[in-house]
Amino acid sequence: MNKAEIYEFLTSRNKQKKKSRTPARLDAIQSATGAILALFIVFHLIFESSILLGKEAMYRLTKFFEADFIFEGGEPLIISALAFVVFVVFVLHALIAMRKFPASYREYRRYQTHRHLLVHNDTNLWFIQITTGFMMFFLGSIHLYTMMMQPSKIGPFASADRIFSDGMWPMYLMLLVSVVLHAGIGVYRLIIKWGVFDGVQPQQNRLLAKKIIKWLIVFYLALGAVSLVTYIKIGYEHQEHYGERYHKGVKE
Ligand code: HEM
Repeated sequence: MNKAEIYEFLTSRNKQKKKSRTPARLDAIQSATGAILALFIVFHLIFESSILLGKEAMYRLTKFFEADFIFEGGEPLIISALAFVVFVVFVLHALIAMRKFPASYREYRRYQTHRHLLVHNDTNLWFIQITTGFMMFFLGSIHLYTMMMQPSKIGPFASADRIFSDGMWPMYLMLLVSVVLHAGIGVYRLIIKWGVFDGVQPQQNRLLAKKIIKWLIVFYLALGAVSLVTYIKIGYEHQEHYGERYHKGVKE
């Protein structure tokens, strides 16, 4: 066989081989589940900051999510169901993402060498992404399990007691930092990957997207931190009455 024949033979064989679509499908599912979770967090941290408007505001919002306009006094099982659905999406997203983790110490060392050689910002972002993802896998699971199993223990005092007296605030602080960084960087990577805002000036638009995401990360970190401190303060003041619940308009 001469060179041309070998080339012809190899290319015809490659054409015959059917390419697997699984990696592309997995990538699309990972992007979709990530986008759903990021959207959830964007709203979650806003709703959760209702405590900044006072105990009554947070209480009313909690009861609204328990659909007290339909069920007398609210139905906490709705929260369990919602937490279960979020948990399924969360686990699916994590399972698919796991295939991109370094599989061995050797692979990890190779990545580190590349990282130092490249000094490329977006490669560093990937490292933050897998580190925060790993943290969230544990911290997010603890939180979602609590929400699924104790949905009735949500409210200005119940949440504050959990955060302060039950010593959950360090867990929430770590969860807050990891989830905000992970969601922010994740959304930025989605924008780059799918060329969402590329338009006619992709380079400039990407820089603009990066800037906006940076400010959103700062905003959500600050909002979450201030809300957490408010819960800690309420929990501290309420520790003598640990377990007592808040009722509409009345402080017990
Ligand atoms: C339907 C599912 C969820 C419900 C019902 C829920 C509810 C709550 C509630 C009531 C709090 C206040 C603290 C407490 O009562 O313990 C809280 C805090 C928090 N949640 Fe969730 N959550 C859900 C899912 C998630 C997920 C999936 C994440 C991220 C992986 C998350 C991240 C956080 C963070 C970071 C805080 C602390 C916020 C701060 O520092 O101000 N939550 N959540």
